[in-house]
Amino acid sequence: MIKKRAQQIGVGDTCINEVAKKYVMDALDNNRLSYGKYVHGFEKKFAELHESKYAIMSNSGTSSLQVAIHTLKDLHGWQDGDEVLVPALTFIATSNVVLQNGLKPVFVEIDPITYNIDTSKIEEKITPRTRAIMPVNLFGLSCEIDKVIEIARKHNLKTVEDSCETMFVRHKGKMVGSQTDISCFSTYVAHLLVTGVGGLSVTSNPDYAVAMKSMVNHGRDSVYMNIDDDKGAVRDSKESFFKLIDRRFSFVRMGYSYRVTELEGALGMAQIEQWENILSARQKNAAYLIKGLRAYEDHIQLPSWPEHSEHAFMMLPLVIKKTSPIKRDDLIMHLEEHNVETRYMVPLLNQPYYIKLFGDLEPQYPIAAWVNHNGFYIGCHQGLKQEDMDYMIEVFKDFFDARK
Ligand SMILES: Cc1ncc(COP(=O)(O)O)c(C=O)c1O
Repeated sequence: MIKKRAQQIGVGDTCINEVAKKYVMDALDNNRLSYGKYVHGFEKKFAELHESKYAIMSNSGTSSLQVAIHTLKDLHGWQDGDEVLVPALTFIATSNVVLQNGLKPVFVEIDPITYNIDTSKIEEKITPRTRAIMPVNLFGLSCEIDKVIEIARKHNLKTVEDSCETMFVRHKGKMVGSQTDISCFSTYVAHLLVTGVGGLSVTSNPDYAVAMKSMVNHGRDSVYMNIDDDKGAVRDSKESFFKLIDRRFSFVRMGYSYRVTELEGALGMAQIEQWENILSARQKNAAYLIKGLRAYEDHIQLPSWPEHSEHAFMMLPLVIKKTSPIKRDDLIMHLEEHNVETRYMVPLLNQPYYIKLFGDLEPQYPIAAWVNHNGFYIGCHQGLKQEDMDYMIEVFKDFFDARK
């Protein structure tokens, strides 16, 4: 019997380093919490690293997705009830924002190995009312984005990539988020970069960027985006003064209050400076854990990914194989009892609210349904130490040894 550790091994870790503390203190010392050098710097660097022209930071990945869909709906004249294709396995926010925009999510089955959208099943779901495809890059792995884009072009559809779980990695040599109309990322707790709350909408289309930036900020006219825009304004006459006031208070579209503060920007700036270390530590940890769990491959499907893709490993997804007599919940129980934290692999269609809305869709999506009931993940983040990973592997061994 293995000895239980006192401290839990979490699925994520908040690594607030000294630089992050310095930047946060600097933001506080500057007496400036509204949009300033940190949020701006973080957006700029994030866009650059994702090979795109613009990044707009908001208070969550969900908010970033919300303004992305709303922008496309506004600018392209989509009607209520128009359809958006969404994978049948994803975090609920992906399809919630479709619903919140008065559109209809239409689900597409997933690939049994990568868990991302099965691109061979997209076209059968396209109807005259389809307006967009919303592929998701789950767990740190890009979907087959080139194929998604090819289908979108053929059918004249827009693409919004939900990359909330995946940053800094390439698919066929191209950076995630760089090829779709808009891509969205999350910096919520336990993600690849953590700012507490936060999200980014990334695009290279200036019209989309202007609309999204405005929507995050109440629909304000983008000629006035922050207090720095007052600088240099001429106040030498009543006319010029009112010109300034008017542009500060001009709302040109429906908007939201989705802004962040310089504190999230400061955390983002400090972390993005470390992106290469974060990514390589996760890849190294994932490789170590996968090697250690190979012994149980008859029972567990370990992560595997195509050669043309890199994996960012936001977490380590594991699925009990159909041929195994092992029950997922027994294994999860054993891990949790030994203080190894687990989470389900983002089940969607079996969630009470979705069953209420759409009825029981699981029989139509057997692969997603299998993952809903047999998938879970554990951590492989940069905060793990060698002894943590050895202990995690030992806990698995203990479970399987007891069943020999
Ligand atoms: C795939 C996916 N989409 C959207 C979100 C929403 O991000 P946030 O929690 O920042 O709103 C998440 C968050 O975990 C996610 O994993």
